[in-house]
Amino acid sequence: MERLSDTDSMRAWSRAQRATGRRVGFVPTMGYLHEGHLSLVVEALARTDVVVVSIYVNPTQFAPHEDFAVYPRDLEGDLSKLRALGCHAVFTPERLYASADAAQETWIEPGPTAAPLCGASRPGFFRGVATVVAKLFHIVEPDVAIFGKKDYQQWRVISAMVRDLDMGIEVVGMPTVRESDGLAMSSRNSRLSTEQREAAVAVPGSLVIATKMVAGGQRSAAEVSAAMRRHLEAAGGAVDYIAWVDAETLGPVAELRGALLVAVAVAFGGVRLIDNREIPVP
Ligand code: PAJ
Repeated sequence: MERLSDTDSMRAWSRAQRATGRRVGFVPTMGYLHEGHLSLVVEALARTDVVVVSIYVNPTQFAPHEDFAVYPRDLEGDLSKLRALGCHAVFTPERLYASADAAQETWIEPGPTAAPLCGASRPGFFRGVATVVAKLFHIVEPDVAIFGKKDYQQWRVISAMVRDLDMGIEVVGMPTVRESDGLAMSSRNSRLSTEQREAAVAVPGSLVIATKMVAGGQRSAAEVSAAMRRHLEAAGGAVDYIAWVDAETLGPVAELRGALLVAVAVAFGGVRLIDNREIPVP
């Protein structure tokens, strides 16, 4: 496995692969890799000839009060997991912006897909994500890029960017990988105490409640959301949002019908967790 740490050598490596006719798959990450990340790498290996994983904790997608400084890191562990899978190259830039405080004048400004859900509670978040992913796409020049639906809105925002800016990259969204009790795997789970970790099972539990209520004929988003909120708060969660949106546009829905997404953001002891479920309502 090649390890590349600067932009020019990463681009040169990728171009050399493409020059010999190989298709390049790409999985951008912020490291502290778990089975969820690795499932994306496995998918990339199946779809393309060579796979690049980037590991970079992107400062521009964290607000000043957020957890950039304490975001978990384990580069050696990450490298050995990727090597074991047969990943071909890992891109570990020290910095991707012209200056240490990430000052630059050009940004990707995502549209309406970035407005609700996490876009509403984390202003500037998707601008930071879209900008860094655009930069990474320009450095790696992949044919295919793989994202997790755990960050469903991120996958949709990136898909819209690639479409709108004619980037010519196939963007793939993969199912959420979960712990045995249903909690979505996340690098942030490592910041939960034992008690918070146990309580956090209420997050996927709230999505199960939603699925069952809808399957049982309930068509009031307010009723289902209230039941979900009761379940999350009883477990000690601080609800940021519980939202029902159109699964494709992420626009608001007037009634529970069609291809819907129910998405939640809940904090346990200051650790913010997100989860979602696609619920098709006939
Ligand atoms: P990070 O949180 O490290 O996630 C990297 C990729 O792994 C994302 O596509 C995310 O959706 C996916 N992922 C995380 N947990 C998953 C799970 N349990 N199951 C399946 N996929 C999962 O997302 C980011 O980094 C950053 O915003 C990034 C795109 C790298 C830009 O900085």
